[in-house]
Amino acid sequence: MKTGDQLDLGKKTLMFLEATMLHWPDSMETFLKEDRILFSNDGFGQHIATSKRYDFEVGDVLPDAAEYYANILMPFHMPLLRYLRVLNELGIEPVQIAPSHGIIWKRDLQKILKAYGSWANGEVREKVLVIYDTMWGSTEAMANEIVEAVRAAGVEVKLLHLRKNTRSHVMKEMLDAAAFAVGSPTLNNGIFPTVGDFLVYLKGLRPQKKTAVAFGSYGWGGGAVKIVEQELKSSGIEVIEPGLQVKYRPYEKELEMCRKLGEQLAAVAKKK
Ligand SMILES: Cc1cc2nc3c(=O)[nH]c(=O)nc-3n(C[C@H](O)[C@H](O)[C@H](O)COP(=O)(O)O)c2cc1C
Repeated sequence: MKTGDQLDLGKKTLMFLEATMLHWPDSMETFLKEDRILFSNDGFGQHIATSKRYDFEVGDVLPDAAEYYANILMPFHMPLLRYLRVLNELGIEPVQIAPSHGIIWKRDLQKILKAYGSWANGEVREKVLVIYDTMWGSTEAMANEIVEAVRAAGVEVKLLHLRKNTRSHVMKEMLDAAAFAVGSPTLNNGIFPTVGDFLVYLKGLRPQKKTAVAFGSYGWGGGAVKIVEQELKSSGIEVIEPGLQVKYRPYEKELEMCRKLGEQLAAVAKKK
């Protein structure tokens, strides 16, 4: 079966749609024409396990769909844009979307379709993330100061410690963020392991239209900030350079530099 092919079952007609790389090479979807139900396979899914069937029985499902999208479909925005165009060309206007996992969209069907368009286009909001880890609190003191400066500039900001937030949650927050900062202390001339974990995950998901900056505390030779910058650049992210390295604890002069960095991130977010 190819996109647009139909199978007449007598009283019901199935139309098939190729959904290549959404998110496996052989993914396909089926539209039940008479009932206007789109069986969307992995598209529009969520990782919700519930005995309920429909969105209106569960509450607001959009945050779960955003987390699913950010962690599973984000690298496939190009095939997704193509797929959304084909839906339109075939005149497919479902009244229900039933993914292969998660709940069925009925009440919020227009909301999820609109959200997919926006996510696939990489649309961002005035929102900044400060993502970090720390051994003894110096990188954290820098992170807190950056957060305060972004907030003071009137931009939404989220502080995300990498051992208190799962990488999936961080990526959900990343989905509509315009800019972010990544903070790591230097450990054995390198980056802190949780920061490495996050950067590997981020690279695989290839977020679009983001600007980032690196920061962190060190004791003697340093090095973490440079490594974070390289990793961000090789993930296709626009990097504000140089990042901010502080020797041991940040005091007033260094905290002022952190505030400047926060203001810079807020300005970037406002411009996007
Ligand atoms: C096990 C260990 C290894 C470290 N290795 C380095 C290093 O190679 N180069 C360096 O400049 N600082 C190194 N440091 C010093 C830390 O980077 C420094 O104490 C920093 O202020 C820690 O930041 P934090 O408080 O955010 O954890 C090391 C510290 C520890 C505990």
